[in-house]
Amino acid sequence: IPVKIFKGSEDASAFVAKEIADLIKKRASDGKHVVLGLATGSTPTRVYAELVRMHKKEGLSFKNVFTFNLDEYFPMPPDSLQSYVRFMNEHLFNHIDIPKQNVHIPDGTLPKEQVAEYCRNYEKKIDDLGGIDIQVLGIGRTGHIGFNEPGSTEKSFTRLVTLDQVTRIDAASDFFGEENVPRKAITMGVGTILKAKRTIMMAWGEGKARVIKKAVEGPITDQIPSSFLQKHDNCLVVLDEAASSELV
Ligand code: F6R
Repeated sequence: IPVKIFKGSEDASAFVAKEIADLIKKRASDGKHVVLGLATGSTPTRVYAELVRMHKKEGLSFKNVFTFNLDEYFPMPPDSLQSYVRFMNEHLFNHIDIPKQNVHIPDGTLPKEQVAEYCRNYEKKIDDLGGIDIQVLGIGRTGHIGFNEPGSTEKSFTRLVTLDQVTRIDAASDFFGEENVPRKAITMGVGTILKAKRTIMMAWGEGKARVIKKAVEGPITDQIPSSFLQKHDNCLVVLDEAASSELV
């Protein structure tokens, strides 16, 4: 996989934001739309801040943009502190001109028996719009992308999953205790992610160095779902120096 290493996450995030902005502008000038796949968590926050800056200072418009978020905890009310709906509104959507109806985030409020059909429909909406042009990804300590925990195959699509214990421990501080972290989530699958025309996985800090080594240089295995990105023909891994420190 091509890997691009920056001194810090600030430069790295500006680089990723520019690639996204350039595609949005190019498509707008052709009268076409863009479909973005988006992640939450600490990793992409500076990318979103830079996109907001470009909107406010440089007139970058998101009128031609559709978005699909990777995942949401289940169950999760949208107005809850930890909801990904709230996260995306606060970091991006409240500050740009994207039409509200263009935004898609998995619904954490559905009755369980409606989830499977909802997930099939989520995939269909992506496909009907022509597929995801750029999928932004972080990586979890388990090697997850989205909430595709170890055991997720490359043929997995949007579905209800059980979170790994490690992932729940990592989320514990956001929920004021591990016991408050939901056990489930709705996530796009590895297969959904691999369908994207371009995937950009980012990681910052030495805490990600070991899992980045496994994802990028290790064997392709469902025990490290991010390793399936090695099969994607247009994937870029963007790292700061610390996250790259264990690569050969
Ligand atoms: C979030 C997501 C997760 C995170 C990953 C890293 O939508 O899909 O895979 O990208 O858990 O989280 P942070 O960036 O907080 O280290």
